Amino acid sequence: MPDLGSAIGVFDSGVGGLTVLAALRERLPNERFLYLGDTARLPYGSKSPDTVRRYARQAAGKLVERGVKLLVLACNTASAVAVDDLIQAFAPLPVIGVVEPGAAAACAATRSGHVLITGTEGTVSGGAYQRAMLARRPELKIDAVACPMFVALAEEGWIEGPIPEAVARRYLELELAGPERTRVDTVVLGCTHFPVLRGVLERVCGGAVRFVDSAQTTAAVVAEVLAREGLANPNTDGTARVRLLATDAPERFARVGSVFLGHPLASSEVELVDL
Ligand code: DGL
Repeated sequence: MPDLGSAIGVFDSGVGGLTVLAALRERLPNERFLYLGDTARLPYGSKSPDTVRRYARQAAGKLVERGVKLLVLACNTASAVAVDDLIQAFAPLPVIGVVEPGAAAACAATRSGHVLITGTEGTVSGGAYQRAMLARRPELKIDAVACPMFVALAEEGWIEGPIPEAVARRYLELELAGPERTRVDTVVLGCTHFPVLRGVLERVCGGAVRFVDSAQTTAAVVAEVLAREGLANPNTDGTARVRLLATDAPERFARVGSVFLGHPLASSEVELVDL
């Protein structure tokens, strides 16, 4: 039986997974978190599935070495190709990816039955979201568009104004056209970086479109698994302590990470590690 006071490991290719960490902290205020961003090898979104699996396994190994009691794969690209691999490699450690919870939420949200998946090239072309959604609702019509420039915009902190709006229009306009009855009514934000662009995306897509952000739904699944497996921290001080690890440039991690966390981060709060 693992120590219930051990941290929950959260892994992402970089800082983007801090959107998932923020949702986890809010949902699970009594837990400790150990977050690893593989900033030295970001982006994962344009790499081959084999490479992403190899990187994900090394990063997960680092968190397991530090004694985490559950592992969250916050990176959509890694979740799309590596979750089964990690479940096998680290059993009986519970490993939770963001694709299944996000797909379940999208299936529950759509009324028109027409969903648009947005993500990195790897996530969109691998088809993991599409498969997870069709397994639940085979009648759905699913489109998918890779939006790699959203990652760069979010990292740059350009999350409001005419530049991200123009990029969002270019990626999404055609996808959102068509007769109202059959139009996309749900957009999956299938990348860690996209939730910070939500304001812009809402304006571009119009009020009728719902957004599914896998951060919230993943946090709900983690809470369920902790309860079911008897892994919740019995300590109820509500302080949700966090340790941050990065494989490169802690200063950059802190600067860019502040955009994702919504509050300032100091580079002294980020430990540099090697995988
Ligand atoms: N974390 C990645 C994801 O959610 C986005 C950044 C990257 O390409 O590594 O897909």
